[in-house]
Amino acid sequence: MKKQFIILFIAFTAILSSCTVKSSKVSSDIDNKVDSILSLMTLEEKIGQLTLYTSDMDQTGPFIKKQYEDDIKEGKVGAIFNAYGAEYVRRLQEIAVNNTRLRIPLMFGYDVIHGHQTIFPVPLAEAATWDMMAIEKSARVAASEAAAQGLNWVFAPMCDIARDPRWGRIVEGAGEDTYLGSDIARARIRGFQGTDVSDVNTVAACVKHFAAYGASQAGRDYNSVDMSERMLREVYLPPYKAAVEEGALTVMSSFNDLDGIPATANKYLLNDILRTEWGFDGFLVTDYASINELVTHGVATDTLEAAKMALIAGSDMDMQAGAFNKALGKFVEDEKLNEGYIDDAVRRILKAKYKLGLFDDPFKYCSVEREKAEIMKPENRQAAREVAVKSMVLLKNQDSLLPLNKSVRSIAVIGPLADAKQEMLGSWSAAGDYNKAVSVVEGLQAKVPTARVTYAKGCNINDDNTTLIGEAVKAARSSDVVILALGEGAQMSGEAASRADISLPGVQQKLAEEILKTGKPVVVVLFNGRPLTINWINDNIPAIVEAWFPGTEAGNAVADVLFGDYNPSGKLPVTFPRSVGQIPIYYSMKNTGRPADPKSKWTSKYLDISNDPLYVFGYGLSYTTFSYSEISLSSNNFSGKDSLQIKVTVANTGKYKGIEVVQLYIHDKVASVTPPVKLLKGYTGVELNPGQAKDVIFTIKADDLAFYRADMTFGCEPGDYTIYVGGNSRDTKSAEFTLNLPL
Ligand code: NOJ
Repeated sequence: MKKQFIILFIAFTAILSSCTVKSSKVSSDIDNKVDSILSLMTLEEKIGQLTLYTSDMDQTGPFIKKQYEDDIKEGKVGAIFNAYGAEYVRRLQEIAVNNTRLRIPLMFGYDVIHGHQTIFPVPLAEAATWDMMAIEKSARVAASEAAAQGLNWVFAPMCDIARDPRWGRIVEGAGEDTYLGSDIARARIRGFQGTDVSDVNTVAACVKHFAAYGASQAGRDYNSVDMSERMLREVYLPPYKAAVEEGALTVMSSFNDLDGIPATANKYLLNDILRTEWGFDGFLVTDYASINELVTHGVATDTLEAAKMALIAGSDMDMQAGAFNKALGKFVEDEKLNEGYIDDAVRRILKAKYKLGLFDDPFKYCSVEREKAEIMKPENRQAAREVAVKSMVLLKNQDSLLPLNKSVRSIAVIGPLADAKQEMLGSWSAAGDYNKAVSVVEGLQAKVPTARVTYAKGCNINDDNTTLIGEAVKAARSSDVVILALGEGAQMSGEAASRADISLPGVQQKLAEEILKTGKPVVVVLFNGRPLTINWINDNIPAIVEAWFPGTEAGNAVADVLFGDYNPSGKLPVTFPRSVGQIPIYYSMKNTGRPADPKSKWTSKYLDISNDPLYVFGYGLSYTTFSYSEISLSSNNFSGKDSLQIKVTVANTGKYKGIEVVQLYIHDKVASVTPPVKLLKGYTGVELNPGQAKDVIFTIKADDLAFYRADMTFGCEPGDYTIYVGGNSRDTKSAEFTLNLPL
């Protein structure tokens, strides 16, 4: 026995010493090393690698398992989440490598969704930048801060297309559009993983929630999803696929069932699509205790059966259910489960650990010096401020009330979000410390130190107390201009934060009504994680800025925008409805057989409200104005070979330098499947000085016109198309071309 152990030890030491793999080496090299380790592992050790537990440092789900340190010691854990800090992670890693037989290092994961300690705007806000460099930079900074605190795995990007603003998790994604969402998914993977994921300041990304979680019925979190195969493939899957193609190391399955099969045990999704069709070779982690939920869903009799189902369907790592640990060993011993499933899952997990370089140095993310130097360094805060200004969307600016003049003498800053540092970070603010955030009041005072800034709360975020309104009215009366900071609390969106009524909560509209009566110029700055139905605000308040949840630099970024140090360029990545009754509402709707016609009763519309949204997808104003020339095409007959050039000249016709996000949409006029009225196919930001004009040229190829045809093959069809170019999805120039495919 002793002799056996010595041989084993020598063999393993030999493997470890040769484990100086750099990710640039061929993957077969890693495969060989992984296979060698695997051959030394007991069944129990293998199952341990498939297990992920939370530490009790943070709680991101319903229950916490307290004895995770003992489990690490016993080799029953492959990864830990919700633990960060160079020293703390080192201690847990030491338990793993010093106490377990094979000294396999742990991975450390965390929900680093929009920044780690330096908090960037919430993902929906970042999507409003339409600026992939900015989004990549945000993920880059998040990765370097996370990696400096012991983390090597982030549970992001969230790639769920969401078209129902009642769903609180709409805040975590890129909005309603597949094309934009796919670009953003790729940018985030590049940001997190860099060019070499084994670098000390990059982390493994985790694409989530696979799949179609954003289509939870009625916008209620964790609810069922049921959709056609066409809708799944056309609209919901592409962003996940884009992220996988960009090299994402891991994927997380979703809580929902899809067409009756919970994603956690959905072989079609996890195995057939993700692995076989897309060639994903990383590992797949379940969502939080979702294996146990297979029982609640009603597809497994108990946790044991659930564990087996999840593994066979393609889940590699069990997040927090402890079900793999409990069940898999017994199934193998009873010959009711082929150990090969476990081996495959272990292989995929060990491979990720190799790629991260953890076998070279399990403590590479645990340097206290680096942690001190990296966390919230001024460049990171500056980057957060730059992304925050770009994410803000100017919704209304009557009579050019904005930008404000810095010579203003007095400002009343009113509203429950005006002095609310904690709210500024938004949901999923990871290790963000709200004490280090800049409130709106602070940001404005810093911007115009000579002005008298009076703060009045006016009301709470979400109750019916009106007693504070009087004082706020007084503050408004004694000031030259009022900044009204309204919206939702940070926790009113995010996980388990669906709302059936998406208007301004509490008595905030009442506050706005009373403030407006003072006759002072009023600017509303909105903080929210979803589209809101703000019809009264839109109809009555002269200037509105959508600020979302801007993160650590919130107040400074708001001040930059309000005073014109940054001319707003954000565009909505999601449609704002007028009423919850219009949901789902999105720009790429179908025409139907009876498109709305106010003159005809028998058309597709409502009796009580127009079909039009409050703000369309892609909408956003600037302090300057832009004009668009007519579109000129390189040809009206496109053969499908080479490419088609689409040119417009965009001119700055106003007084300020500004950036316009020029958007390209295409409509297939007749197809074998009812086509959407418009589909985004390109966009680009152009910066123009007053009076300056630039040509913007988009290039499309036949592939850009492809879709799932009637027979579910993917490709394009010949025929007539309309091109639209403009500054949003509604106000566009158009041109036509014919696609003549060779027979
Ligand atoms: C549940 C959430 O759905 C998921 O997004 C998150 O990554 C995990 N909890 C871990 O906190």
